[in-house]
Amino acid sequence: MQVKQLLKKGTDFLGNRRNALLDCELLLSFTFGFNREKLMINADKDVEVELESLFEQYLQRVSEGEPLAYILGEKEFYGLNFFVDKRVLIPRPETELIVEKALECMEGSRDLRILDLGTGSCNISVAIATDLGDRLLQIDAVDISEDACEVAKINVEQHGLSEYIHVFQSDLLENIDSKHRYDLIVANLPYIGESKHRFISADTEKYEPKEALFGGHDGLVLYNKLFQQIVEKGLCFNYLIGEFGFAQGYAARELLNKYFDQNWGIEVDLAGIERIFIVKNAR
Ligand SMILES: C[S@@+](CC[C@H](N)C(=O)[O-])C[C@H]1O[C@@H](n2cnc3c(N)ncnc32)[C@H](O)[C@@H]1O
Repeated sequence: MQVKQLLKKGTDFLGNRRNALLDCELLLSFTFGFNREKLMINADKDVEVELESLFEQYLQRVSEGEPLAYILGEKEFYGLNFFVDKRVLIPRPETELIVEKALECMEGSRDLRILDLGTGSCNISVAIATDLGDRLLQIDAVDISEDACEVAKINVEQHGLSEYIHVFQSDLLENIDSKHRYDLIVANLPYIGESKHRFISADTEKYEPKEALFGGHDGLVLYNKLFQQIVEKGLCFNYLIGEFGFAQGYAARELLNKYFDQNWGIEVDLAGIERIFIVKNAR
């Protein structure tokens, strides 16, 4: 079968799925081990039977709901490519707002020390570090999951940032020395509440790590715990930026008021949805 025929077979198989053609092109390129542009140049070439069957296996996995990023083993975030597998959450475009705001807050500053809580694939840290260049001193990137830390380390290495980003396991601030002063803390902790299951797809729940998704009864249990630990440990920081979920603005405001008086704000994404909080602390 020719490449173009296989592509047609794939799009027919995926039927009405959104992005069926793009997904098939990506899967075919992945099967052959070359980029999408080369796919078009080779449209009339015959495909070996083994590769045809491999492509069909990938199609089957996609049709069963497995995220494409896990099959391809990569996901783009903030213009950079990240290795991902089922040990980590697939980076979401809305999380780029954390990076944007973090860079705005750090504008004009040097020798920056940053803490990334719930680092997952290390997407936030790598994106920030890539932009800051030698203005960065160090990022401590932590996750409760040893598995996630392994993926994070792969990405740090692939992006040549081992000198700047230190990945280690920690349950929130458990392994963080309270003597450190951070210019910035970023946190994209799990925030899906038990009553908010309807906001995630069945495929997300089936394939992505549970410990990366659920944040207790109202979704904000981990943020509550983090704020409490910050206060108890007396951890000093200039900015704390965190992401929360759809319709959690009211509960987030209550929590922020409880721990940080009035020194915080809430930012919306491009769609006007409240997405992140920024705490400015003068301590
Ligand atoms: C929503 S994912 C975010 C991953 C990545 N930072 C991103 O933005 O795509 C949340 C991450 O927090 C981690 N996590 C969950 N509970 C934690 C805890 N108590 N302490 C540290 N990390 C935690 C999860 O393992 C997961 O990797």
